[in-house]
Amino acid sequence: MNPESPRKINILLALLVLVLFLGLGYLGYQNYRLTQEKTALEIELTNTKQDFASTTEKLGADIEAFKALLVATQNDKVNAEQNARAQQEALDAMSNTLGLYQKLATTDRELLAKYSKTYFLNENYSPARSVTVPSSYTIEPLKEKMISVDVWPFLQKLLDDATTANVDLKIASAFRSFDTQSTLKTTYKVTYGSGANRFSADQGYSEHQLGTTIDFTTAKLGTSFATFEKTPAFVWLKENAYKYGFILSYPKNNTYYIFEPWHWRFVGKALAQRLHDENKNFYDLSQRDINEYLITIFNQ
Ligand code: DAL
Ligand code: ZN
Repeated sequence: MNPESPRKINILLALLVLVLFLGLGYLGYQNYRLTQEKTALEIELTNTKQDFASTTEKLGADIEAFKALLVATQNDKVNAEQNARAQQEALDAMSNTLGLYQKLATTDRELLAKYSKTYFLNENYSPARSVTVPSSYTIEPLKEKMISVDVWPFLQKLLDDATTANVDLKIASAFRSFDTQSTLKTTYKVTYGSGANRFSADQGYSEHQLGTTIDFTTAKLGTSFATFEKTPAFVWLKENAYKYGFILSYPKNNTYYIFEPWHWRFVGKALAQRLHDENKNFYDLSQRDINEYLITIFNQ
């Protein structure tokens, strides 16, 4: 054997050991580095998870807060709408009340006053606006008959419906001024003396001065209608006049005048209906009770 051989082997061995050593060192280093990286990644993952958890929690809280805000806003909206509605209702009620007061202030209080020997109309009183009744409805075509413009539509309907029902019904007297009533009463007094007070009102006390009151007759009876009670016209009026707002002022046994089946006064549909339903007369009610109907007197 070559004496150099053991040395070479030793050197080779030494080199091998060195390579092994270096290789192990490298592997150890790589292992260490990977472990470090893994740890770093794990830490980062944990942090990320925590960040995520806290972000999710915050987001949840934000959503809850937003929901609460939404509910509060909706409640505010509902409250605001309720307030607006309540205010509108209050305004409407005020406006209605104001309208009623305005209507009452502009409605003639005399229209439902009790005139027969109780209240007095001054000599200047006459209907605010009146119209001439077309002569075809009256028995004396040449004598102009006036009526309140507000009452005429009700009266015309009554007369037309009577005609449709084949009832002979005409107008004998309508509006009478203070002076006309005075002249009429004087004439009656000449003939009947104080007996005239049983069937004729003094000037200022006649419902005719209101322009809302009619004396009916028939074409057959003409101006002499003392027997009007016996006519189909009177029967028809008793059954139907209230539907047009007219009432019989002086029924049998009233305390003011003789029974006047021809004399009908407009008091409005509501009051006439009530008197009909309760089988009462206009002069049976208190003035206070009657006045409740003033505001709606011309309601259809
Ligand atoms: N005939 C009634 C009472 C009047 O004169 O008014
Ligand atoms: Zn009369």
